Amino acid sequence: MSDTKYQFGMVGLGTMGCNLVMNMADHGFSVAGYDRDPIMVDSVQHTAGDRPVKTAGTLEEFIGLLKTPRAIMMLVPAGAAVDAVIRDFTPHLQPGDLLIDAGNSHFVDTSRRTKELAEKGFHFMGMGISGGEEGARFGPSMMPGGPPDAYALVQPIFEAVAAKVNDEPCVAYMGPGAAGHYVKMVHNGIEYGLMQLISETYDLLKRGADLSDDELHHVYAEWNGSELQSFLVEITAEIFLFVDPKTGDRLVNKILDRARSKGTGKWTSQDAMDLQVPLPTIDLAVNMRDLSALKDQRVAAAKVLTGPAPRLEGDKAVLIGRVKNALYFATVTTYAQGMAMLQQASKTYEYNLRLEDVARIWRGGCIIRAALLEPIRAAYANNPDLPNLLVDPALGQELLQRQADLREVVKLAVEGGIPVPALMGSLAYFDAYRSERLPSNLVQAQRDKFGAHTYERVDEEGVFHTEWNKG
Ligand code: 6PG
Repeated sequence: MSDTKYQFGMVGLGTMGCNLVMNMADHGFSVAGYDRDPIMVDSVQHTAGDRPVKTAGTLEEFIGLLKTPRAIMMLVPAGAAVDAVIRDFTPHLQPGDLLIDAGNSHFVDTSRRTKELAEKGFHFMGMGISGGEEGARFGPSMMPGGPPDAYALVQPIFEAVAAKVNDEPCVAYMGPGAAGHYVKMVHNGIEYGLMQLISETYDLLKRGADLSDDELHHVYAEWNGSELQSFLVEITAEIFLFVDPKTGDRLVNKILDRARSKGTGKWTSQDAMDLQVPLPTIDLAVNMRDLSALKDQRVAAAKVLTGPAPRLEGDKAVLIGRVKNALYFATVTTYAQGMAMLQQASKTYEYNLRLEDVARIWRGGCIIRAALLEPIRAAYANNPDLPNLLVDPALGQELLQRQADLREVVKLAVEGGIPVPALMGSLAYFDAYRSERLPSNLVQAQRDKFGAHTYERVDEEGVFHTEWNKG
């Protein structure tokens, strides 16, 4: 293809970039790749074999390989590296060219970059990609946002490479500005919540009910064949079987209980606070990663702070069934919190999100893909303005059938001293959301008594203040 121009450009030829290039080329698109590391440039060219791929080690050569208007995707670490690539590339671009940031960038950075580049006549698209290395190679879920006419430029290629569910591609235009990165951020917030919930069920079954790793494998594998079917439950079942080559024990037992994070879950909680959208399950998942990091303090505290023995009483099979229902219930509430956040963000930031599309493109390719996304999609298809998934008639019914089991599981966990904050938070969210009357009248009274912050009344319109100390 020496004189031919390439349809798409990829900057950053690490594992994700390389896999996406191969995925595009396998779907018949010609791709030019660029990396500052000459080893990457050679290795990707080698991996490409006779696919329509050409890699370049200089920016000038790379730019010269591309068809105009150019569509260039960056797969570089979020943060300063994205600004550096933009700074290096813009002098070489022409008006109408499109730069796509496909990393996990913070949506505020994406908004800023979109405006800065638009002022120079360039299009900028922030796009979330989920699915890890495997997804990039064989079909990720893609969440593009930005200028709609720029999306038209890349729509055929994205639809070709994205994961497919019932022949529908797991990609859709999300909305203007930073909509794509925002949706990806909330995806990751939900991911944090679901991972925490699964880990709590693991703790209940392992420490509380003494299940062996083989038994745990069977339980999660069976759940994965049920309404709990999901990528995260599936990989959890697989994890229990994996043998540590160093010791011969199961690897999961050799892994230090200190969970790391790169920030996307925290960003979800932070922005939810700004939007005043309650996300207790996701907040608690972020909290638990932080608490897990206090390993030394926990080891010291374990010696002095005693509690009940972590033993869950009762029949094992019954308990497993209850824990399953508890997990399903809490999983629904976690998606409900994330979707409610998107509903509010769409209004505040004018993203014009279609939540049906969001649920549709999350059904395949991404980390939070799950059978549950089908009824979630149906809920928003029936009512795009649904304020919360909990009040969707079909999903609400599923919750009502399982709430007794979640209550029982939480009770047993409390009695056994096993921390299940995300399960508890999910239940409290449900109970608070369904409460016609909350004790917040007392909070208002306190605020008005100590600080004259005023209150509203149940029997009269208006804003009131009382001289409490004179009463
Ligand atoms: C995905 C993942 C991906 C990333 C996680 C890890 O959708 O493919 O979400 O983006 O691997 O966000 O995040 P933490 O390191 O914060 O757990």
